[in-house]
Amino acid sequence: MDMEAFLTLHKDLPREGPGAPEDVAWACALAGLAADAVICDAGSGPGGDVPALLAAAPSGRVVAVDAYFGAAADARFAEDPRVRGDTADMAHLDRLPEAPFDLIWCAGALYFLGLENGLAAMARALKPGGVLAFSEPARFVDAPDPAAEAIFEGYPLRRPEEIAAVTVGAGYEVLGQRKVPDAGWEAYFGPIEARVAELRPGADENLTVVLDEALAEAAAWRVHRDAIGYVLTVARRGA
Ligand SMILES: C[S@@+](CC[C@H](N)C(=O)[O-])C[C@H]1O[C@@H](n2cnc3c(N)ncnc32)[C@H](O)[C@@H]1O
Repeated sequence: MDMEAFLTLHKDLPREGPGAPEDVAWACALAGLAADAVICDAGSGPGGDVPALLAAAPSGRVVAVDAYFGAAADARFAEDPRVRGDTADMAHLDRLPEAPFDLIWCAGALYFLGLENGLAAMARALKPGGVLAFSEPARFVDAPDPAAEAIFEGYPLRRPEEIAAVTVGAGYEVLGQRKVPDAGWEAYFGPIEARVAELRPGADENLTVVLDEALAEAAAWRVHRDAIGYVLTVARRGA
């Protein structure tokens, strides 16, 4: 994919993946998060989940870390001293000045490291007893249609209970799991579809490919949303 065309489509979108504020609230309540918690939003995109994280920890701090959108997150919350955005690799959150964390929130991003590697990387950056909440591509049927699996470009789709088992194997206690709601996916695809409509007139060949792929992904998810999606897992690191 042409990176310039990708960034043209994605510049200034409110979020870069599916997610809903009620999921953040649910995860923070399960975690028993303190009002002054130190939080990392790992793979934050432009920081779409930061307001909900701050609502759960009003006297806490959030560092939003993203390899591409860290500066955008920093600029978005420039007026709020509780938030810092950082362009960094989430494989090394333990090196951040704010680490270790009470909570790492990782919406649709852990899988870029691979599930096992991601779980290990997050454990290194959490306080003992700290909590990781992550949404992970999942299948809700035995054999999803190949067109549904293609949304995740070959990433192995596990059942929620398989994700829980891998999480336990990595030394966490699973506190809860739930499917990311359709509203979370629409919160991602809706602004993308509006942006596609804006950019379509006059789009060059590279941009046209990116716009077509974005619409195809949204259409495929709507057809297959009962078979595949994201499962949110909330898990406590062992002491
Ligand atoms: C599907 S998006 C989700 C973004 C955001 N959590 C949201 O829900 O809007 C995944 C994000 O992970 C980021 N990412 C991927 N690999 C990364 C890495 N190794 N370190 C930091 N960010 C990474 C990407 O830049 C992208 O913004």
